[in-house]
Amino acid sequence: MIIAIDGPAGSGKSTIAKIVAEKLHFRYIDTGSMYRSVAWKSLQKKVTLGDEDAVANIARETKIELVPGENGQSVFIDGENITSQLKEETISRGAAIVAAQPIIREIMTAKQRELGKQGQVVMDGRDIGTVVFPQADKKFFMDADPEERGRRRFTELKDKKQIANADLVTIIEQVKQRDQEDRNRKIAPLKQAEDAILIDTTHLSIDQVVEQIMKTINSGP
Ligand code: DC
Repeated sequence: MIIAIDGPAGSGKSTIAKIVAEKLHFRYIDTGSMYRSVAWKSLQKKVTLGDEDAVANIARETKIELVPGENGQSVFIDGENITSQLKEETISRGAAIVAAQPIIREIMTAKQRELGKQGQVVMDGRDIGTVVFPQADKKFFMDADPEERGRRRFTELKDKKQIANADLVTIIEQVKQRDQEDRNRKIAPLKQAEDAILIDTTHLSIDQVVEQIMKTINSGP
């Protein structure tokens, strides 16, 4: 069984996907972390993010391991645990750039299909229900107002003390800009699959969203 959860940044999909996976005893896979990993390694190697061939080489040669862990998933790149670095703003920006490149998407999609082949997974991303697993058993598309998503991101950064000189207004602008990039890119843009269930999380608690998803899953095919 494959459960696809797509949606924009701050829609709550990672938090929810993690909990749903836990409840089902499924594996949780955060595909955004794969694009972030490619950006991280490219920046480490001082590769220009817009240089698709060079970034593609990085994507091919880098060993990205997603290890189920205490906080859902830990990410190891060539054996090094870099999980805590992946949410930094430079990486977020870099990930959006590399995620718009067709070759990178092809490489990542293949890896994601490989990971999903074993089944029993909850996979979150932008194109899981549309491109990676169009035949997923259950598809959800989570969304929320950009202002609310910005507030969530701001709180998350503050909690992690990663907010050196950003403010809420800036973060909301960044969220909107990332939306534009994800929704308007030519390849695998962020969009709701026709057969996905839309959940607007703006005014819902985490528990309410989880309950809604679990109900749908338990209601059978
Ligand atoms: O979910 P996230 O913020 O960690 O994703 C990081 C970037 O990768 C973001 O710009 C969207 C992109 N992404 C994508 O294009 N396709 C996916 N399946 C997952 C993420």
